[in-house]
Amino acid sequence: MKYKIAVIPGDGIGREVVDEGVKLLKLISKIYGDIDFTLEYFDYGCDYYVKHGVMMEEDGLEKLSQFDAIYLGAVGNNIVSDDISLRGLLLKIRQGFDQYVNLRPIKLLKGVDSIVKNKSQNEINMIFVRENSEGEYIGTGSHMFKGSDRELVIQDSVFTRYGCERIIRYAFEIAKNSNKTLTSISKANALNYSMVFWDNIFNELKEEYPEVETHSYLVDAATIVMLENPEKLEVVVSSNLFGDILTDLGAAIAGGIGLAAGANINPERKYPSMFEPIHGSAPDIAGDNIANPIAAIWSVSQMMDFFGREDIGADILKAIEYLIEEGTHLPRDMGGNAKTGEVGDRLCYHLKNIVKM
Ligand code: NAD
Ligand code: IPM
Ligand code: MN
Repeated sequence: MKYKIAVIPGDGIGREVVDEGVKLLKLISKIYGDIDFTLEYFDYGCDYYVKHGVMMEEDGLEKLSQFDAIYLGAVGNNIVSDDISLRGLLLKIRQGFDQYVNLRPIKLLKGVDSIVKNKSQNEINMIFVRENSEGEYIGTGSHMFKGSDRELVIQDSVFTRYGCERIIRYAFEIAKNSNKTLTSISKANALNYSMVFWDNIFNELKEEYPEVETHSYLVDAATIVMLENPEKLEVVVSSNLFGDILTDLGAAIAGGIGLAAGANINPERKYPSMFEPIHGSAPDIAGDNIANPIAAIWSVSQMMDFFGREDIGADILKAIEYLIEEGTHLPRDMGGNAKTGEVGDRLCYHLKNIVKM
C-alpha cells in the first residue's frame, strides 16, 4: 500500500524530532517491501506566521485534506503568542478535520525508569481517550468592559450530546474489544452543567455495554490514583482539558514527556488523522539537538497501527525497547548523552535488525 503523508515539522524541537520520525518512515518503506510513503512538507508554523501573518495558508486545510495522514512536530515559540499559533495551526487541524479522538498511550516500556516505583509494565499500561473537538477548547468567549473596573472575560465550554456520546462510545468499544475496564474522569461536584451532563451520558452508555467494567473518578482524585495505583486504570475517557493535563502527568509516570505520543483520529476517515508527540516545541532546548525523538517515533508507530499495520507498529515499539535495553544511545532526558539524530539512527539500526530476524 502507498500512503500520502503531509509532514509539518512546525517549531522548535518539533523540527528536530520530526527529522527522526521521517528517517524511520523512509526505512519502513525500504525494509517491509509492501508499504510505501510519499512525503510532502509544509512549512506552517511560527516562522511562517512572521512572514505571512497567518499560521497556515488560507486553503491549508483543503491541501492537507488530500493526504492519508499528517505527521506533526510541535507548534509554538517565544515570538508568536500561543493563542495565535496553536489556534491557527494545531487546534485548527484537530477541529477542522474533526479529529475528535485523541489517543494517548501511557505505557511503561521495558527498561524505562518510572518516577512511580515498584510498578511493573503491566501495572502502568493505560490508554487515554481524550475528547479532542469541543469541551473547554471550543475557542469562543468574550472580553467585555475593557479598561473599566467591570472588565471580565468569559471562556465558553461546550459539551454537545453528539460530542460526548461519540467519544465515550469510542472508549467503550476499545474497552470491550480489549477486555479492559473503562474509567471516566469528570468533575460534577464543581462543573454543575458540563460534567453532570458528561456523567449522565456515561451512565446511559454503560447500559449498552454491560460486559465492560466501569469506574469513575473526579479529576483531582484521579491524579492520586494515577500516581499511587496506576494499575487501576486501563482505558480512560475524559474531556479535552482534563485529558490534556492528565496525559502530561501520565507522560511523567511512563518515563517522561520525551517518550509520550499521541494520535488525533477522525475514526470515520472522512479527513486525515494526525500523529504527533504530545510535548511542545521546548524553546528551552530548541537548537541544541538533545531533544528526545522517541515520542515522535512512537507516534509513527501509532500511524502504522492506524494504517492497519499493527505488525510494524509493534516492531517500532520493540526497537525502542532494544534501544533502552542497550543503553548506549539514550538522549539526555533519559540519562544518556546521545544527540537527537544519533538516537534516531540507532532506532533505525534496531528496526532493521528486527525485520531481518
Ligand atoms: P514543552 O513540552 O515544549 O516542554 C516542557 C519541558 O519538557 C521543557 O523543559 C522541555 O525541554 C521538555 N521536553 C519536551 N519535549 C522534550 C523532548 N522531546 N526531549 C527532551 N525534553 C523535552 O511544553 P511547554 O514548555 O509548556 O511549551 C512550549 C511551547 O510548545 C509553547 O508554545 C506551547 O504552547 C507549545 N506546545 C505545543 C504542543 C503541540 O504542538 N502539540 C504541545 C505542548 C505545548
Ligand atoms: C497538547 C498541547 C495542546 C493541547 C496545546 C498546545 C494547545 O498541550 O497537545 O497536549 O492543549 O491540546
Ligand atoms: Mn498538552
